[in-house]
Amino acid sequence: MQISIINGPNLNLLGKRETDIYGNIPFEEYLKDIESKFRSIRFTYFHSNVEGEIINELQRVGFVYDGIILNAGAYTHTSVAIGDAIAAIKTPVIEVHISNVHAREDFRKFSHVSGKAVGSIFGLGLKGYELAVQWFLEK
Ligand code: DQA
Repeated sequence: MQISIINGPNLNLLGKRETDIYGNIPFEEYLKDIESKFRSIRFTYFHSNVEGEIINELQRVGFVYDGIILNAGAYTHTSVAIGDAIAAIKTPVIEVHISNVHAREDFRKFSHVSGKAVGSIFGLGLKGYELAVQWFLEK
Protein backbone atom coordinates (compact mmCIF):
# COMPACT_ATOMS: atom_id res chain seq x y z
CA MET A 1 0.00 0.00 0.00
CA GLN A 2 1.27 3.42 -0.97
CA ILE A 3 0.17 6.53 0.92
CA SER A 4 1.08 10.11 0.19
CA ILE A 5 1.17 12.72 2.95
CA ILE A 6 0.93 16.25 1.63
CA ASN A 7 1.38 19.30 3.83
CA GLY A 8 0.69 22.85 2.72
CA PRO A 9 1.90 26.30 3.72
CA ASN A 10 3.73 26.93 7.00
CA LEU A 11 3.51 23.30 8.08
CA ASN A 12 7.27 23.07 7.51
CA LEU A 13 7.49 25.22 10.66
CA LEU A 14 5.84 22.68 12.96
CA GLY A 15 7.73 22.56 16.22
CA LYS A 16 8.59 26.27 15.98
CA ARG A 17 5.32 27.81 14.86
CA GLU A 18 2.60 28.83 17.38
CA THR A 19 3.53 25.85 19.54
CA ASP A 20 0.53 26.41 21.83
CA ILE A 21 -1.69 25.51 18.85
CA TYR A 22 0.47 23.15 16.79
CA GLY A 23 2.78 21.54 19.36
CA ASN A 24 6.55 21.13 19.65
CA ILE A 25 7.27 18.31 17.26
CA PRO A 26 8.70 18.91 13.78
CA PHE A 27 6.76 16.96 11.15
CA GLU A 28 9.82 15.03 9.92
CA GLU A 29 10.27 13.65 13.44
CA TYR A 30 6.62 12.60 13.68
CA LEU A 31 6.86 11.02 10.23
CA LYS A 32 9.58 8.66 11.48
CA ASP A 33 7.15 7.44 14.18
CA ILE A 34 4.43 6.83 11.60
CA GLU A 35 6.83 4.96 9.31
CA SER A 36 7.94 2.70 12.12
CA LYS A 37 4.35 2.07 13.27
CA PHE A 38 3.12 1.14 9.78
CA ARG A 39 5.98 -0.83 8.27
CA SER A 40 3.87 -2.43 5.56
CA ILE A 41 3.03 0.94 4.04
CA ARG A 42 5.21 2.89 1.62
CA PHE A 43 4.94 6.59 2.46
CA THR A 44 5.92 9.61 0.49
CA TYR A 45 5.94 12.98 2.17
CA PHE A 46 5.59 16.22 0.25
CA HIS A 47 5.54 19.71 1.66
CA SER A 48 5.11 22.96 -0.22
CA ASN A 49 4.24 26.54 0.58
CA VAL A 50 3.15 26.98 -3.05
CA GLU A 51 -0.45 26.27 -4.13
CA GLY A 52 0.40 25.07 -7.66
CA GLU A 53 3.06 22.68 -6.38
CA ILE A 54 0.50 21.05 -4.07
CA ILE A 55 -1.83 20.62 -7.06
CA ASN A 56 1.01 19.13 -9.14
CA GLU A 57 1.70 16.61 -6.37
CA LEU A 58 -2.02 15.72 -6.01
CA GLN A 59 -2.11 15.07 -9.77
CA ARG A 60 1.17 13.09 -9.69
CA VAL A 61 0.10 10.67 -6.94
CA GLY A 62 -3.66 10.88 -7.45
CA PHE A 63 -3.98 8.15 -10.08
CA VAL A 64 -1.49 5.65 -8.67
CA TYR A 65 -1.42 5.80 -4.86
CA ASP A 66 -3.89 4.07 -2.54
CA GLY A 67 -4.48 7.05 -0.28
CA ILE A 68 -3.63 10.69 0.21
CA ILE A 69 -3.56 12.48 3.57
CA LEU A 70 -3.78 16.21 2.94
CA ASN A 71 -3.31 19.10 5.30
CA ALA A 72 -3.57 22.03 2.92
CA GLY A 73 -2.99 24.56 5.72
CA ALA A 74 -4.54 27.94 5.00
CA TYR A 75 -5.18 26.97 1.34
CA THR A 76 -7.93 24.77 2.75
CA HIS A 77 -9.99 27.88 3.28
CA THR A 78 -9.13 29.71 0.05
CA SER A 79 -8.19 27.35 -2.77
CA VAL A 80 -10.89 26.43 -5.29
CA ALA A 81 -8.06 24.94 -7.35
CA ILE A 82 -7.02 22.44 -4.65
CA GLY A 83 -10.67 21.43 -4.23
CA ASP A 84 -10.93 20.92 -8.01
CA ALA A 85 -7.73 18.85 -8.02
CA ILE A 86 -9.12 16.52 -5.34
CA ALA A 87 -12.33 16.12 -7.37
CA ALA A 88 -10.27 15.38 -10.50
CA ILE A 89 -8.09 12.58 -9.13
CA LYS A 90 -8.98 8.95 -8.38
CA THR A 91 -7.15 8.36 -5.09
CA PRO A 92 -9.24 9.01 -1.97
CA VAL A 93 -8.12 11.98 0.13
CA ILE A 94 -8.45 12.35 3.90
CA GLU A 95 -8.31 15.94 5.12
CA VAL A 96 -6.33 16.47 8.31
CA HIS A 97 -5.94 19.55 10.48
CA ILE A 98 -3.85 19.56 13.61
CA SER A 99 -5.96 22.20 15.31
CA ASN A 100 -9.72 22.25 15.73
CA VAL A 101 -10.49 24.64 12.87
CA HIS A 102 -14.12 24.91 14.01
CA ALA A 103 -13.08 26.28 17.39
CA ARG A 104 -10.97 29.06 15.86
CA GLU A 105 -11.61 32.11 13.66
CA ASP A 106 -14.68 31.98 11.40
CA PHE A 107 -12.60 32.02 8.21
CA ARG A 108 -11.16 28.62 9.20
CA LYS A 109 -14.63 27.05 9.36
CA PHE A 110 -14.98 26.82 5.59
CA SER A 111 -13.01 24.19 3.67
CA HIS A 112 -12.63 23.69 -0.08
CA VAL A 113 -11.23 20.25 0.76
CA SER A 114 -13.95 18.72 3.02
CA GLY A 115 -16.62 18.32 0.36
CA LYS A 116 -14.22 16.46 -1.96
CA ALA A 117 -12.49 14.34 0.70
CA VAL A 118 -13.67 10.93 1.94
CA GLY A 119 -13.45 12.32 5.44
CA SER A 120 -11.88 14.92 7.66
CA ILE A 121 -10.03 14.82 10.97
CA PHE A 122 -9.36 17.97 12.93
CA GLY A 123 -8.35 19.00 16.42
CA LEU A 124 -6.58 15.78 17.38
CA GLY A 125 -3.06 17.10 16.92
CA LEU A 126 -0.52 15.13 14.90
CA LYS A 127 -2.36 11.96 15.92
CA GLY A 128 -4.86 12.84 13.16
CA TYR A 129 -2.35 11.74 10.52
CA GLU A 130 -1.95 8.26 11.97
CA LEU A 131 -5.70 7.88 12.42
CA ALA A 132 -6.00 8.62 8.71
CA VAL A 133 -3.36 5.99 7.91
CA GLN A 134 -5.24 3.48 10.07
CA TRP A 135 -8.44 4.19 8.13
CA PHE A 136 -6.76 3.49 4.79
CA LEU A 137 -5.28 0.30 6.22
CA GLU A 138 -8.63 -1.01 7.45
CA LYS A 139 -10.94 0.17 4.70
C1 DQA B 1 -4.15 23.95 9.89
C2 DQA B 1 -5.33 24.90 10.15
C3 DQA B 1 -5.34 26.02 9.15
O1 DQA B 1 -6.43 26.90 9.39
C4 DQA B 1 -4.06 26.82 9.25
O2 DQA B 1 -4.03 27.84 8.28
C5 DQA B 1 -2.85 25.97 9.17
C6 DQA B 1 -2.84 24.71 9.89
C7 DQA B 1 -4.07 22.86 10.96
O3 DQA B 1 -3.40 21.86 10.71
O4 DQA B 1 -4.61 23.01 12.06
O5 DQA B 1 -1.83 26.35 8.58
O6 DQA B 1 -4.34 23.33 8.65
